[in-house]
Amino acid sequence: MVEIFHVPSWIGARLGGALARLGIEAAEESARVQPADPRFGDFQANGLLALAKRRGLVPRPLAEKLLRALMADEEWRGAGIEAFVSGPGFLPFRLPDGFLLRWLNTYRDESSLRLGAGQRFLGRKIVVDYSSPNTAKQMHVGHLRSMIIGESIQRLLRFCGAAVIRDNHIGDWGTIFGILILMIRQNSLDWERSPAEVLESLEALYREGVARTNEDEAFLEEARRELVRLQRGEPENVALWQRINGLSYRAFQEIYDEMDVHFDHVLGESFYRDQVDRVCRELESIGLAEISDGALVVRHRAHPRFGEQPFLVRKKDGASNYATTDLAALLYRVEHFHADEIIYVTDGRQQDHFQQLFLTAEAWFFQKNYPLPALKHVWFGTILGEDGKAIRTRSGEPLRLRELMEEAKARAYGIVAEKSPSLAEEEKRRIARAVGLGAIRYADLSQNRTHDYVFSWPKLLSFDGNTAPYLLYALARICSVFRKLPASARGEVEALVLPSLETPEERVLAKKLVLFPCALEQAIEDLRPHFLCTYLYELAGVFSAFYKANRVLGEAEETERRRLGLCARTALILEQGLHLLGLATLEQM
Ligand code: ARG
Repeated sequence: MVEIFHVPSWIGARLGGALARLGIEAAEESARVQPADPRFGDFQANGLLALAKRRGLVPRPLAEKLLRALMADEEWRGAGIEAFVSGPGFLPFRLPDGFLLRWLNTYRDESSLRLGAGQRFLGRKIVVDYSSPNTAKQMHVGHLRSMIIGESIQRLLRFCGAAVIRDNHIGDWGTIFGILILMIRQNSLDWERSPAEVLESLEALYREGVARTNEDEAFLEEARRELVRLQRGEPENVALWQRINGLSYRAFQEIYDEMDVHFDHVLGESFYRDQVDRVCRELESIGLAEISDGALVVRHRAHPRFGEQPFLVRKKDGASNYATTDLAALLYRVEHFHADEIIYVTDGRQQDHFQQLFLTAEAWFFQKNYPLPALKHVWFGTILGEDGKAIRTRSGEPLRLRELMEEAKARAYGIVAEKSPSLAEEEKRRIARAVGLGAIRYADLSQNRTHDYVFSWPKLLSFDGNTAPYLLYALARICSVFRKLPASARGEVEALVLPSLETPEERVLAKKLVLFPCALEQAIEDLRPHFLCTYLYELAGVFSAFYKANRVLGEAEETERRRLGLCARTALILEQGLHLLGLATLEQM
């Protein structure tokens, strides 16, 4: 028998085959199988009644015919899934113990899970463009979500078999540098301090510079000239620009290291500066872009707004912009990475930009006869303070990411020190780091990404509810069961073969574990990691009920082995799930 990983999609495929054999050509939804209310079955085909209605068929006989066709399918019979007709023509499915045990005994370590999940996107090349902060500034809380959501999405895609290319599209080539270079020339800057401190001064200089451009025409002109000198590649300006970027990259890297975020490429906007002319030329030559008021724009006339609000690809002064760079980057990712798909992770305010980018690419590539990759804008809402407004410091500044992370660790340390005062200092710090940083991460990922959410320390650090501390603790508690075993038996729990299921709680837990691929699929389908969070939270709850009702250690040998096996599978999926979200897990808390 083939090993089934994602149960409902496997059932759905057999069902689709059965429909076809009956000569009923049906849309995919008709054979779609989903988890069902457990009172009626484990899974259910939801489209059959609607299909019968569309065809003018009586549903119950149709369901009966389908069931017979399924039973004639040898592979179906081999899988040992039960199906029966009920009510007006429902076709629920139930997983008997034998099936559950086979699944649990097949997927019992990371590599087998990976093998099961890895069929989904096998060989698909997906560029994930995330984090992407701007240089000359420190990362602030507004940069948190792209980094966290992007990292989780790329882990999920990779786990599901995609060849992921992680690309950090850093903003390192803006008009900001004209003002900055001029301000550095006119003021003194101590470069010898830490990257964060120098960036702090640069931010202050920039703010001052912007204020001056508003009142001092000559200053503004001079700043423009500095920018042109940089763009022309004059060595002095280039050296200053590089110095600022080098510093920024180092500051970003400290955050990425701490948050366990890694990139394959860091191709900043400047990387594309020699490729933007080609973009403009091509768009113009195929008649997609037109001159309007001296600027080059693309008008999507069929769109209700973008005809009037064109996509600006070259400014009046001849300079390219964010849009031109994104077009060049898209072309590069197709020509050099051979991307099948590109995913951009930014906040919701950039929705118009990406819609226009995608429309432009579509028309442009059609003319070029180039394959258009699937283009997805994965956008997210705002992090709010307790007052319901975008989160800021008391003095109204954006909150620095570095400080937020330090505070998370410090608060978690306080909790750890209180709960487990006897732990060694180093151990306390290690736990506080995993809990604190994990808590920020999880609070973000557990929200539907397109919603705004309120950032609350007590909530995200709570040991109750859908939080990182709760899940990390649930996992650590299972590990503590293993630690009570004699050393020789500890290493073997992963390999334990489950012989049977006996109690209702064991069955409920087994069924929940088998739903892991469904949670993965839900999270990946629309690139929303919160589905995985919800599942892990529910799994921890089901485990907790099992653990309360079914003693694990000190039972008869077979019972103990069976329950230890269930503990091991739960630990595996909790751990794997948390890693896919980007969290570091702990064996002890
Ligand atoms: N640097 C941009 C910003 O801070 C985000 C870039 C996102 N990626 C892209 N290819 N446009 O808003």
